[in-house]
Amino acid sequence: MEPIIVTSALPYSNDRLHLGHLRSTYLPPDVYVRFLRRSGHDVVFICATDEHGTPIALRAEKEHVNPKDITDRYHPLIKDELQRMGCSFDYFSRTTDPIHYETTQAMFRKLLDKGFIYEQSIELLRCPKCDKYLPDRYVEGTCSYCGFEGARGDSCDSCGRYLRATELKDPKCAICGTKPELSTTKHWFFKLTAFQDELRRWLESNEKTPDNVKKYALGWINEGLKDWDITRDMGWGVPLPIEGTDGKVVYVWFDAPIGYISSTKACFIARGDPEGWKRYWQGNGKIVHFIGKDIIYHHAIFWPAMLMGSGDFNTPEAIIASEYLTLEGKKMSKSRGWFITINDYLRNFSPDPMRYYLISVAPLERDADFSVDEFIKRYNDELADVLGNFIHRTLTFIERFFGGAVPQANLSEGDKAMLVQLEKTQSEVGSAIEQVKFRDGLISIMALARDGNKYLNEAAPWAAMKTDPQKAAATLYTSAQIVKSLGSLLSPYLPFTAERISQILNLEGDIHSATWKAGAEPLPAGHKIGKPEPLFKKIQAEDIPKVKADLIPFKDVGPRIKMDEFKKAKIAVGEVVKAERIKGSRDLLHLEVDIGEYGVRSCVAGIAKYYSPEELVKKKIAVLTNIETTTLFGVKSEVMVLAAEGEEKVSLLVADKLVPPGSGVR
Ligand code: 2FM
Ligand code: ZN
Repeated sequence: MEPIIVTSALPYSNDRLHLGHLRSTYLPPDVYVRFLRRSGHDVVFICATDEHGTPIALRAEKEHVNPKDITDRYHPLIKDELQRMGCSFDYFSRTTDPIHYETTQAMFRKLLDKGFIYEQSIELLRCPKCDKYLPDRYVEGTCSYCGFEGARGDSCDSCGRYLRATELKDPKCAICGTKPELSTTKHWFFKLTAFQDELRRWLESNEKTPDNVKKYALGWINEGLKDWDITRDMGWGVPLPIEGTDGKVVYVWFDAPIGYISSTKACFIARGDPEGWKRYWQGNGKIVHFIGKDIIYHHAIFWPAMLMGSGDFNTPEAIIASEYLTLEGKKMSKSRGWFITINDYLRNFSPDPMRYYLISVAPLERDADFSVDEFIKRYNDELADVLGNFIHRTLTFIERFFGGAVPQANLSEGDKAMLVQLEKTQSEVGSAIEQVKFRDGLISIMALARDGNKYLNEAAPWAAMKTDPQKAAATLYTSAQIVKSLGSLLSPYLPFTAERISQILNLEGDIHSATWKAGAEPLPAGHKIGKPEPLFKKIQAEDIPKVKADLIPFKDVGPRIKMDEFKKAKIAVGEVVKAERIKGSRDLLHLEVDIGEYGVRSCVAGIAKYYSPEELVKKKIAVLTNIETTTLFGVKSEVMVLAAEGEEKVSLLVADKLVPPGSGVR
C-alpha cells in the first residue's frame, strides 16, 4: 500500500480555535487517519501552527511585543486543545522551526532557478511617519466595492472580497493612522500563469478531490490566473534566500503550505529517520489535505503550482474542503463574540459528544449548524438512548444472568442474521471512511446499535432466562459480538468511548492499534467481561439550562463598534432645572437640562409614566447631547435622556457622586 500523508490546514498561532475549525479541518482528517492506521496503511498525520503573516506582526506591534512572543503563547494552547479533542497528529510543528525556514528557502531558490520566480518593481503604500511599507493588513480604509469603512489592505470583511491595499479609499496606516504614500519597491512574483493548463489538466483528472473544490478552482482557472506577488516588505517571516534583500520576507501564503513538508521532515527527524519524509512527498506517496472552504484557492491553485514548478514533489491526491458551520443559525463571528472555542467546550464536556455531533450533523460538503438544543437531543436520543443503552443492557444482562462471562450459544437463524448485519456494517463503515463519507459511516454504526436494541427487545433475554435459557444465551452471545464490533467501529469517530468499551469488555491491547479486521473477530464464549457502567449519562430536563449556559454563556450582542464610533456620541451629565407635562401627551415630559458649557437645553422625554415632574428637578442624569434635534407636540428636543428600561420600570441614569453639569460620560 502507498504511503499517505494527511494534513490539516495550519492554524494561525494568534487565537484559540473554535468549533467551526474543528468541524472543517481537524476532526474529519482525524477520523480518516485513525481508520487508515487500523487498516494497515503507512500514514502520517501532520499539522503545525502558521506563525507568520501581518495579523500576527501587526498585533505584536500594537502590544509592543515580538511576534514570536504571541506565537509562543498560542502554539502550546492550540496543540493542547486539539490533542484533548482527540486529534491524533503524528507531529504538530511550527512554521518558525528552523527546518521550515530552510525548506521554504530551498523551494524559493528552486523556483527562482527554474525561472518560475521573477522580480519586478511595483508601487506600494508606505507610511511616511512609521517610515515603512504597509503590507496587507497594515493598511485600513474604505472598501472601494461595498463602501465598508473597516476594510483592510488584503480583504474586506464586509463583502468578502480580496483587495489590494492600493484599491482602498481613504487608506490609513494601521499603526499610526497617517495617510500613506505610494512608493516604488522591488518584489518577487511567482509565475502562476505558466501553470494554467497544467493545473486544469491536473484538476480535471483528479478523481479523489470532490466537486466543490474542483468547481471553484476550475472556475478561477477559466477566468484566467495572474502571477502572484510572493514577497512582503516587513521583518516578520522567512527571509528571502537572495543577497541584499534585507527587510523583505516571503509572503505567509507562500511559506505556510510548505509547512506541510517541513513538519513531515521534523516528524521523521524526531523518529530518527531524517530521510523518511520523502516516502510521503515523493515516489508513490499520496498527499491528502483537509481544509476549510475559504482557503480552496491557496490549496487548489497556488500550492499545486508551487509543487509542480519545483518538480521535487508529488501533487495532492485529494483536497477535501468542508463548508461552514453556523452557530444557532447565525454565522460565527469573532468580532461579535459569536463562537464557541474548543477550549470553552472542553471546560465542561468530554470530547466525544462533540465529535459525534459535528460528524453526524451534515456531510462535509454541506453547511452545518451547531445548535445547543440539537446537541442535547442527539446526545440523549442517539448517544445515550441508542448506543449507550444497547451496550449497557447487553453487558448488564451478561453480568446478571451469566456471571459476566460471554455465554456458550446455539445460534438461531435470527441470531445469525444479526451477525451477518454486523459484518455488513463493518465493510460499509470502512468503505464510507475510505471515500471520505464520514457521516455515512457513522449512520451505519448507529443503525447497527438501533437494530441491536430492537433485536434485544424482541428476544427479551430477561424473560427467556425463565422459559428458554438456551435462547437467552444465544441472544446475549450475539449482542456481545455487536458490542465488541461497535467499540471497534467507533474508534475513528469516538476514540475515548471506543477505549472505554474496550476496557469494559476487558479486551487486551489498545483498540487504536488493533487492526480493523480484528474488530470483527468474535469474542469467544467464556470470555469474562469487566464491570458494566453507563457510557453516556442522559442530560435531564432540569440540567438543560446549565448545559446551555455552559455552552453559550452569552448572546450575540450584534455588530461591535469601534471606539471612534462610540466617541461620536457625546454623553454628559445634565442637571434637570425644570420639568413639566406636555399638554395632550400621556407619555411625554418637557425638561430643561443644564449641560454645562453648552447651556440649558430643551428635552422631550417619554418618561411621564415613571417620573413626576417634581421628582426630576435637580436630578443629575446622563444625556446624549449631540443627538439630532426633533420637535414633538410642538416642543423642541435638543438632547436625549438616557434611561435603563426594565421589564416594568424605567430608571434614569443618575450620577451618584457630585459632578458638575456637562461632565463627560465615557
Ligand atoms: O487560513 C488559515 O488559517 C491559514 N493559517 C491556513 C494555512 S494552511 C497551509 F497552507 F498552511
Ligand atoms: Zn504609520
